[in-house]
Amino acid sequence: MKKYYITTPLYYVNAAPHIGHAYTTVAADVLARSKRIRGAEVHLLTGTDEHGQKIEEASKAAGKSPKEFCDENSGKFRDLWKRLDVRPDDFIRTTEPRHENRVRELFLKLKERGDAYKGLYRGWYCVPDETFFSETDAPPDEKGRRLCPNKECRKPLQQIEEESWFFKLSKYQEPLLKHYREHPGFLRPAHRAAEILRFVEGGLQDLSISRQKVKWGVPVPGDESHTIYVWFDALINYWSAAAGRDDLWPADVHIVGKEIFRFHAVIWPAMLMAADLPLPKCVFAHGWWTVDGDKMSKSKGNFVDADSVVAEFGVDAFRYFLLREMPFGNDGDYSKGALLRRFNAELVNDLSNLVYRVETMVDKYLEGKLPAKPPLDGELYTKSVAERAPEVYAKMDALDFHGALDAIWEVLRGLNTHIEHTKPFKLAKTDMARCEAVLSDIVSSLRIVGGWLDPFMPHTAAKIQMQLGVRQFPDALTAEDVLTGVSAHPGRIQKGPILFMRKM
Ligand code: MSP
Repeated sequence: MKKYYITTPLYYVNAAPHIGHAYTTVAADVLARSKRIRGAEVHLLTGTDEHGQKIEEASKAAGKSPKEFCDENSGKFRDLWKRLDVRPDDFIRTTEPRHENRVRELFLKLKERGDAYKGLYRGWYCVPDETFFSETDAPPDEKGRRLCPNKECRKPLQQIEEESWFFKLSKYQEPLLKHYREHPGFLRPAHRAAEILRFVEGGLQDLSISRQKVKWGVPVPGDESHTIYVWFDALINYWSAAAGRDDLWPADVHIVGKEIFRFHAVIWPAMLMAADLPLPKCVFAHGWWTVDGDKMSKSKGNFVDADSVVAEFGVDAFRYFLLREMPFGNDGDYSKGALLRRFNAELVNDLSNLVYRVETMVDKYLEGKLPAKPPLDGELYTKSVAERAPEVYAKMDALDFHGALDAIWEVLRGLNTHIEHTKPFKLAKTDMARCEAVLSDIVSSLRIVGGWLDPFMPHTAAKIQMQLGVRQFPDALTAEDVLTGVSAHPGRIQKGPILFMRKM
């Protein structure tokens, strides 16, 4: 059976991982978990991009062999994902034979079809971005310098004139446009898809796909003085990781940052078309984080490292903030102040205080025990909560994590208001049967919310479910489970430690 196949970009190993990398990877993990919870078979792939000029130069500067340098740094990504509770099913490195063999295979296939040919490349190259630019892409500025046209980069370009293999990208202009037209969900979000459309409509030039001066790469088969261009090499990973299996390809979604959307929305599908392989179902480009209003950069030294945030706020709050702060396709700003505000208002007040308050009441008035069957038939608040489940999951499926969390928080705020209206704390003095009914109804609602939170905050969700007795039941309760009987099981609340403590 085909698995739901999700990929992240392969991260360059020349820099230490920061919140930008964490963002994409956590989002992919949330999507994977949200599918698994509903019984889907999921495959999550991440890994590291290890060839090319940038890594060659960085390893030299570090006084290491490229291999040694990559081994060391690839491990940093792999380890960070563990600490961020990201659970990939596979981690691919572009220096592994399983990948390099597929790169050669694909190159030969394109060559056989006449889609890879030899010529002379004359133009400009950005090493940090590993991207070619033509004379017209990168005109000289007022000081006569050629700078990388990518706004996020703006580093000086290198002039290149060397023999090169080319991929006939130009041939795929029409087929690509046709594919975009016929598959409106292929490129997302829509505003970024529009940019790609304009770009492709403007005409495509053939792409240089080998370097003579770069030694650290996959040698071109049959022409070993060249190595394969690092992007041509790296993109293939999504397919090489799926090779030899019939349950993965095509990928369901490639999640990437906006700056590498073109590679994934234009070059990669054209390569697949040339190789007669099915195209991924969707490429989703999310926005970028700035930090306190500034771009993260070496010169500013303002890279936010995930571990330091996790040390202060915990891994769940970090994951929550990343996906809560802005819609997934938009840019956003990271600041400690913004994190602190959301932490105190949303995680402490709306969520943690609610759970603790409910548990305290059940503990105090009902000695921790819930009735065997939720009373209040017909007027269950839980029903209205359960009705939101399709919306919450539809948003997760659409990678609208921000929207899903918005909906969940609406429910939490609704529950807080519901407590103020029903006043179980007063009922405890006047009408114990009703107090019990109201509280068990609220507990049922929270059990559903606990399930929704699980993909975002696995620890917090586990605590909620343990405290609310869900763990006496199957792992993740669906809304239907709760409504149809599982909640009829006589549950016991275990008033637990507070989920989130207010921070200054
Ligand atoms: N190696 C290429 C990708 C090859 S995929 C076949 C690459 N690597 S990278 O290390 O530079 O990682 C880029 C990715 O990191 C972005 O696409 C994005 O997912 C993430 N981010 C890096 N900086 C970021 C921000 N400031 N904000 C959000 N995400 C960013 O490009």
